[in-house]
Amino acid sequence: MKIINVVGARPNFMKIAPIIEAMNRYPDQMHHILVHTGQHYDQKMSKVFFEELGMPMPDIDLGIGSGSHAEQTARIMVEFEKVCVKERPDMVIVVGDVNSTMACTITAKKLGIKVAHVEAGLRSRDMNMPEEINRLCTDVLCDTLFITDRIAGQNLKAEGVSDEKIFFVGNVMIDTLLKHKEMARKLTLREDLGLEPGSYATLTLHRPSNVDDRAILTEILDALSEISKETPIIFPIHPRTRKMADQFGLNHYFTEGRKVEGIWLTEPLGYLEFLHLNMNAKMVLTDSGGLQEETTVLGVPCITLRHNTERPITCEEGTNVVVGNRRTKILGAAQQVLNGQFSSGRIPEKWDGKAAERIVETILGMGM
Ligand code: UD1
Repeated sequence: MKIINVVGARPNFMKIAPIIEAMNRYPDQMHHILVHTGQHYDQKMSKVFFEELGMPMPDIDLGIGSGSHAEQTARIMVEFEKVCVKERPDMVIVVGDVNSTMACTITAKKLGIKVAHVEAGLRSRDMNMPEEINRLCTDVLCDTLFITDRIAGQNLKAEGVSDEKIFFVGNVMIDTLLKHKEMARKLTLREDLGLEPGSYATLTLHRPSNVDDRAILTEILDALSEISKETPIIFPIHPRTRKMADQFGLNHYFTEGRKVEGIWLTEPLGYLEFLHLNMNAKMVLTDSGGLQEETTVLGVPCITLRHNTERPITCEEGTNVVVGNRRTKILGAAQQVLNGQFSSGRIPEKWDGKAAERIVETILGMGM
């Protein structure tokens, strides 16, 4: 069986890594090729993850880079089509909800190749999110839909997807987290920064809806600045946010240097370093998707700076609370955590480190 695994942007790498590892257990039955679209290309947004997660380097790098949504999607499709025509895989596997996910799905399907989507069925119901459009297009086309939780299954069924396409396998991102947790715990970064466990928060912020508008970004930074008077906030800044903060003249909100105080900027961190900081954080403030899941498993309070989430299970069962991007709401939620009023949550079903194994067993069972 010949399979092409696709990655493109930072959150894809930790999802594909355990799948490749599981496929490697069946060398006689599975031949896999790793294609990187190059949507993310900076050393700190891409290469570092291959090294840390012990992933093979991509067999094929499409080198697409940045661009408008149409440009990026179109370039990926043109280049990925050539790969599919040459390799003629039995299946393409896509993960998550980035532009690369959707572009490669459309391309492969039009060539009559079967496509499986890992992390299918998540819905924010927010069509202003490019990822929601990617999720809908991908799921409607895919032959096999691997889901992380029961809510995703309900979403797909409500859209008319037949049961035999849906497989509840668990969460590959959590496979990677559980595998690397002890390794991350042993790092000394927190100590090196002079931080006690539970004495700081971490932050990620990169959604266009939060960072591309000056007034909104300013309001969020105002709130964060207030919180940082009580607990410093470590902020590994995304290139997109760096660019916007520069453009809007908002860099005075940030501190840099040896002492961690205020909203303390650092370059994007590697997987292990960030996991290490998150597992000992007082709280995580974020607009990322994956972090809502990771904090749920780590049992760390998560404050999501968005109006909705495609991962409601992290609120129903986990430690996540969705507060939007208004100052009072953000401050209120943070204050609750600082006062120790926060629900602890539990780990959702099948987030047990075995999702990739289930995916590979399911594919093998299809007997292509
Ligand atoms: C993409 C995903 C988003 C995901 C995020 C994780 C889409 C639509 N969005 O958003 O779902 O949460 O990745 O990081 O697919 N840039 C660099 N170096 C890089 C990559 C990007 O400098 O390696 C800068 C460029 O200025 C680029 C901008 O960041 O224009 C945005 O990059 P892009 O890939 O378009 O989207 P992200 O915001 O990273």
